Amino acid sequence: KRKLRIAVMGAGGVGAKFLERAQEWDDLIEVDRVLVRDVSKRRDHPLATKFTSDARSFAKADVDVFVDIGTGVSPSAELLEAFLKAGVSVTSANKQAVAASGDKLRAASKASGALLTYSASVGGGAPIIEALKRAVKTHKIKSFCGVLNGTSNFVIDQVEAGKTFDAAMDEARRLGFAEPDSTADLDGTDVGAKLKLLREIAYPGLTPKHLEVGAITEESLIIPEGKGLRYVARCWRTDDGIDASMKLEVLDADHYLVGAKGEQNRLILELENGEFWYVTGKGAGAWPTSEALLADVLHIAREANLK
Ligand code: HSE
Repeated sequence: KRKLRIAVMGAGGVGAKFLERAQEWDDLIEVDRVLVRDVSKRRDHPLATKFTSDARSFAKADVDVFVDIGTGVSPSAELLEAFLKAGVSVTSANKQAVAASGDKLRAASKASGALLTYSASVGGGAPIIEALKRAVKTHKIKSFCGVLNGTSNFVIDQVEAGKTFDAAMDEARRLGFAEPDSTADLDGTDVGAKLKLLREIAYPGLTPKHLEVGAITEESLIIPEGKGLRYVARCWRTDDGIDASMKLEVLDADHYLVGAKGEQNRLILELENGEFWYVTGKGAGAWPTSEALLADVLHIAREANLK
């Protein structure tokens, strides 16, 4: 059996970590090429000969899997769709791209039979998408709520411990948790994309009638004695559809979601039968995100019939 050939877009923090992990699996995975902006900066990398900045030929790469570690909707969304249409399975860590073009990507995947996976887009290393996909196989979802952004937890806890807001954000950037434009971590842009990806699995075909969106500001981080503060995403069934919210919430200090510390993400699924499922794990940073990508690639490797 031949190896699974992969084309990777992005070799920043997450990308570099992913490539390291992929090389540990080189009996199964062969890195065909890696698309980067500037090849000259990568001469020392063990895979230096695979780096390219030729986006045109990258888009036509004859591979089994496209690994999308891009940021922003474009060019990830176009590449994901083009690869899927060409029968190439994909895995994406780019929540903005998958959230923006989910319908197109699902249609392309259905038409060609290539797999669309994006576990790394929500929850990083926490198997949030996996749990939700598993739950909907046998249950109706009454509601779900979660802490889906690690930077916000980190900043809330650091400010509570006495750090300034700006210093806490700088630290979140330094640790590789924050988005390239870290306003996305504070104004609901990051969580909004993740919430959309989750509700599309929990409630296919439904769009929230009401969506309340709050932001995190320095002034908003007020935590009453004995309570905890988290930026919480929620989605729930109503009599005639679904509603959703994402905003700072004051919760009991021992609430499961308050227990999501630092880069952790957590999800609570409430099933129609009254059962609750709880998921936790590292949601941000190079390691958890690359683990989720690798898990999807290996899943595809096992599912694909390589000729
Ligand atoms: N900036 C994101 C976070 C990265 O802090 O959770 C993971 O999606």
